[in-house]
Order: sequence, then C-alpha cells, then structure tokens
Amino acid sequence: MEKYVIEGGHKLHGEIPVYGAKNEALKIIAASVLLEGKCTIKNIPEIEDINRLVEILEDLGAKVERNGHEITIDPQSINKTKPSDDLVHKLRSSVMLAGPLLAHYGKVTMAHPGGCVIGQRPIDMFLSGFKAMGAKVEENDHEYTLQAKKLHGAKIVMPWVMVTATESLMMTACLAEGTTTIINAAMEPEIPALADFLNSCGAKISGAGTPIITIEGVEKLSGGECTIIPDRIEAGTFAIMGLITGSEITVTGCEPKHLETVLETLRRANAKLEVGDNWIKTKPSKLKAVELRTHEYPGFPTDLQSPFTILMTQAEGMSLIHEAIYEGRLFYTDKLNAMGAKIIMCDPHRVIVSGPTPLIAKKLESPDLRAGMGLVLAGLVAEGKTVIDNIYQIERGYENPIARLQALGAKIEKIKE
Ligand code: EPU
Repeated sequence: MEKYVIEGGHKLHGEIPVYGAKNEALKIIAASVLLEGKCTIKNIPEIEDINRLVEILEDLGAKVERNGHEITIDPQSINKTKPSDDLVHKLRSSVMLAGPLLAHYGKVTMAHPGGCVIGQRPIDMFLSGFKAMGAKVEENDHEYTLQAKKLHGAKIVMPWVMVTATESLMMTACLAEGTTTIINAAMEPEIPALADFLNSCGAKISGAGTPIITIEGVEKLSGGECTIIPDRIEAGTFAIMGLITGSEITVTGCEPKHLETVLETLRRANAKLEVGDNWIKTKPSKLKAVELRTHEYPGFPTDLQSPFTILMTQAEGMSLIHEAIYEGRLFYTDKLNAMGAKIIMCDPHRVIVSGPTPLIAKKLESPDLRAGMGLVLAGLVAEGKTVIDNIYQIERGYENPIARLQALGAKIEKIKE
C-alpha cells in the first residue's frame, strides 16, 4: 500500500504549474466515441481516472495512442457496446460513454457506475433524457440497457443544475435527428470547452456556457483536435495551499477568470492575492472567518469546499460552511477534529468551523479525491508527521502531486508499506 508522509509546518515557495482539467478531459475522451475519425487531445492530465476511461475505450475496441500529455483516439474500430462491469465500477465517469455509444451504435448496456462516494449520485436524469430522445431504457439492479435505431431531438428541462447530465445529453443530441434544447443546463467552463470541440468536428451546438443549450443534430461528426483547458480546481486548491501555509507561491498556467467567486471569497477572508492573466500569487495573510455556500458555476465549486473548510481552521472566527450540492461531502471533518480542529456538524450539509486552531499530525485515510487533497493541505500545516493512506483516491484526479509539492519545498514523500 502506498502512502503519503508529510512533515508539516514548513513554508513553501516558488511556482506550481496547473495541468489540464480532469473534468473536461474525461468528457472529451467519451465524446470521441461519436466521431467518424481520429481525435488528438492535448494537455491531458496523466491521472488514474483518465487511465481507467482509456482502458474502457480500449476494451470496446478503440485504438488509443498516448504520449505524455497527448492522446490520440481512433474510435472507428469499436466493436462492442457493453463495457466490462469491472472497469465501469471503478469510475463514475464511465456513465459518460452511455449516450455517445447509444447515439452512434444504437445500443449500449452498462453496469451502474462506481466512483467517489460523496452522496447518492443517481443517473436518473441521464436516463430520462435518453428516453425523451426516443431511447428504449431497460434497467435492473445491476445494469441498464439503452436502445434506439435513431434518436430524435427533444426539449429537456433539468429539474436542477447537473453537470455531467448536461454534458451527456449535449453530446448525445449531436447525432439525434432534429433539434434538442436543454433548459436549466449547467454552465461550468468545461461545458463550452466540450461544445467547442464537438462544433469543430461538425456539431451544431449553441448556448453552451448559458442555461439554455440548443443542439441541432447532424448526420455524422468528423475527427478533430483540441487542447484541454487548465484545471480550475487544481488552481484553486494550490492557491489555498499557499494561503494555509502562509507562503508566497505562484500558481501558473491557470485561468483565473474561471475562479472569480473563489478569488473573491478568499479576498473576503483577507487573503492577499495577486492575479494575472494566467497566474495567481499568494502572500502570507492574516485570515478571518467567512461564510461559504457551494453553488453551481459561476458560484463557489463544491470541489473546492474541503480545501476552503481546512483553510478556515486557520482563520480567526467562526465560519459556516454550507455544502449545498452533495449530502456526503463534509464527513471528512471528523478527521480534522481528530487533528485538533474545532468543527461542529449541524447536519450533513452544514458545519461550523471555529478558528484558528493548531493542527496536530495524524494517521489518516483519504475518503475521496477532493477531501483527500484537503487532508494533504491539513498535513502541510500540522505539527508532526501526517500519514495519508488510500492515496489512489487522490491520484485519481491530481497528476504527480508529490513532485509538484516537493518542488515548492514541501516535506512530502510517497512510501510503500
Ligand atoms: N443528480 C441527479 N440525477 C442525475 C445526475 C445527478 O439527481 O441523473 C444529482 C446528483 O446526485 C447531485 C447533483 O445532481 O446531487 C449534482 O450532480 P452533477 O451531475 O452536477 O454532478 P456530477 O455530474 O456527478 C460533476 C463533477 C464533480 C463535481 C460536480 C459538481 C465530473 C466527472 N464530475 O459531478 O466532480 O463535484 O459535477 O460540480 O465532471 C470531482 O472532480 O471530484 C467531482 C466529484
């Protein structure tokens, strides 16, 4: 078993680069199934979630060539539409393949997806959207099967904002006959990025990045090329890491314009930040507590809630953290209390953090990707040696975090036990 060992209490300095956005890269790879030609994707992060999705595509028969941060997929040799259950269970994003396989090949059977356990995370909106486009849906406890000779356009009204459901239905509608409208669509920057890629392959998508997306179906899509946008969650996490350790660091290769609410919330907490076109610099700051409520984009992202909550353990005063999206994304706060934090859980969606409290190193297990990275941040300020287990969860989403943190002077290493 591999673990991280972190010796806390050291200042960081220097620059840390941001890699490509996991949550765009996964969708572009899934979208490749729709194409009639090869696609080349640049700035792909080298992370476990991408490896797993690529394994599923290869298992379906696609040809994939990888060269560092670049990947070329030739989907034309796909010869089956039922990915292996074992592979699907390892990755929630496997569900992103369902729509494209249905739209291009007329049928798909897939096990229910696995992935981070941060709430109930059903796929009902995917299924009802496919049904609205004319698919026959059969479902049992274990798997679902979708079939349609040819999908047709539909008006799809999302009861609330859902990221992957928006993306999945937008991709699927590209090959449906007629016009599809998605109302109350998610607006995360990865969505217009995905639409731009599909449009460059011949799709007719308009409105991506707004709450109403319109897709005019086309007969077929060609191959193409794209470059993944910088990962805004990495960028935000690293900026918070600079602040929590009282360090001057520069986060490079990022898109601060995708982080307006995050930067504003940090500034309200007295964070001293300098922001350029594609970089964010943190300065030692005397932080004060502020309230946080996670929200769909352009609000404060749920994926940055755990680093921010951990930051609030080092801020003066009481902050109310309201995790509005997921009902299971605050339980890691138990682990922070074991380290000396003062956090009271009001209900599964809300905690109150009183700070500042010194943190003391502990042996911890990473509960999920984002909380796991949050615990790394806690380890960097805690007194003593923090050991973090189950680091697979962290490396699912962050490429080579150890090397990047070591380059900032962090005392962190990966050991095998
Ligand atoms: N939901 C439904 N029915 C559905 C789909 C979703 O009820 O068919 C519910 C979910 O249970 C949840 C809410 O709607 O309560 C939001 O779901 P959403 O679809 O927005 O989340 P997601 O697509 O499962 C994506 C990201 C998450 C990120 C959220 C919110 C990917 C692969 N995942 O998840 O990223 O937290 O949007 O921004 O894009 C991560 O990267 O660590 C991660 C979990």
